[in-house]
Amino acid sequence: MSGGRSRPTPDGYIADPGLAEVGDRRIQYSERSMPLLTALSRRFAAERPFDGMTVAACLHVTPETAVLARLLRAGGARVALAASNPLSTQDDVAAALAAGGGVEVFARAGVDRRTYYEHIALALGAEGPDLVIDDGGDLVNTLHELPRRGRPPLGGCEGTTTGVLRLRRMAAEGALAFPMIAASDTPAKRLVDNTRGTGQSVIDGLLRASGVLLAGKTVVVAGFGTCGTGIAECARGLGARVLITEVDPVRALDAVLRGFRVLTLADAAPLGEVFITATGSAEVITAEHMAAMRDGAILANAGHFDVEIDVRALHALAVAVDPDVRQHVEAFELPDGRRLLLLAEGRVVNLVAAGGHPPEVMDLAFGIEALALAWLAGNADKLSPDVHPVPPDIDAEAARLVLAALGAEIDSLTAAQRAYLASWRLGS
Ligand SMILES: NC(=O)c1ccc[n+]([C@@H]2O[C@H](COP(=O)([O-])OP(=O)(O)OC[C@H]3O[C@@H](n4cnc5c(N)ncnc54)[C@H](O)[C@@H]3O)[C@@H](O)[C@H]2O)c1
Repeated sequence: MSGGRSRPTPDGYIADPGLAEVGDRRIQYSERSMPLLTALSRRFAAERPFDGMTVAACLHVTPETAVLARLLRAGGARVALAASNPLSTQDDVAAALAAGGGVEVFARAGVDRRTYYEHIALALGAEGPDLVIDDGGDLVNTLHELPRRGRPPLGGCEGTTTGVLRLRRMAAEGALAFPMIAASDTPAKRLVDNTRGTGQSVIDGLLRASGVLLAGKTVVVAGFGTCGTGIAECARGLGARVLITEVDPVRALDAVLRGFRVLTLADAAPLGEVFITATGSAEVITAEHMAAMRDGAILANAGHFDVEIDVRALHALAVAVDPDVRQHVEAFELPDGRRLLLLAEGRVVNLVAAGGHPPEVMDLAFGIEALALAWLAGNADKLSPDVHPVPPDIDAEAARLVLAALGAEIDSLTAAQRAYLASWRLGS
């Protein structure tokens, strides 16, 4: 394993190197709204936490990811990047990153499943990386399934709920070979990324793809977790009548107390005009629900994998499919003439039909991951091969730096307050 200068991207793995200039301008635009990564870039350039190390990353290839990749480079890493979704790569960004051999990129939009995994294997390289950053668990999974290459990585970070759940299942079976940090589980990340970022960008993807007016529409959100909460609040903010489906009574209670109507998906199916899944589970919207939906109902998914809407069942139900009603919209005609509209093939709608999270959101999410990865570079030998939380001071440090950049100041506890909070003797 050797770090330092990244290897040039071999020919044929990005869509069009000619898009580099456009991509670079978009990366610079995002970077201006990413004060945390900009500050960390200066710090990492001085401290070089990844000197001599290789980082393999599997992330949506967006301008914000490019800012992170360049930050890791500034910290001394050789970086190889594959996409974490076959459809979400922004080809101009991939070209800009690959230009000049800055980052080794294996990503282009619209690849098939085989190519998607081939790209991940290429990013892992023949020798294997020192550190990994994953988004959904496909890179870590591939690393465990490929014939052993070199020694296992020192460790890595996982950036989304589904990936952390997969890692926990691996760890429970004793199958995880190295420590992974659950970067998606910090309070700051869940608030800013899952709730605010996903809330806004999923509605952005829905609107860009379908062009519907949300005001007055009945929108069904399946899953009232960190993402579903944000999606439901944003849809309501635009005037939609939002219905929630849940399997967890506490999450359902939260939805009721926030004024949402909660019902089963079977009851919501004939009512909804727009359906958005955000559960991290599988087969949430099934043939039975689709058969009960209204003409023109729109189906979109915000969960990490394309398993929440049973797309195969939709194909089986349909007598005709128009694959290109609009960009990222397919129409499925049912035997009685009703049409159901599927967005982005049932994949993450905010990353396929829109640009993903705003840069301010990824600034915090990637800032936490970058700080956690730098910490891991120096501490991995102290960690067992398990899923570990982000050290709490990293979450607080990232939030503090973002607050400072936003011009917000907070109070500090006084000595008397600290003493009061530490004592059990002081009462009324
Ligand atoms: N699109 C994005 O940009 C983005 C961003 C962050 C996370 N994610 C992904 O979104 C998914 C959800 O993440 P989260 O952080 O909100 O998870 P979460 O665990 O906080 O919430 C999921 C909710 O769905 C509920 N649920 C599970 N199965 C259900 C079912 N069959 N019907 C109704 N509700 C059900 C759970 O009870 C839970 O409340 C994950 O796959 C995650 O990786 C996507």
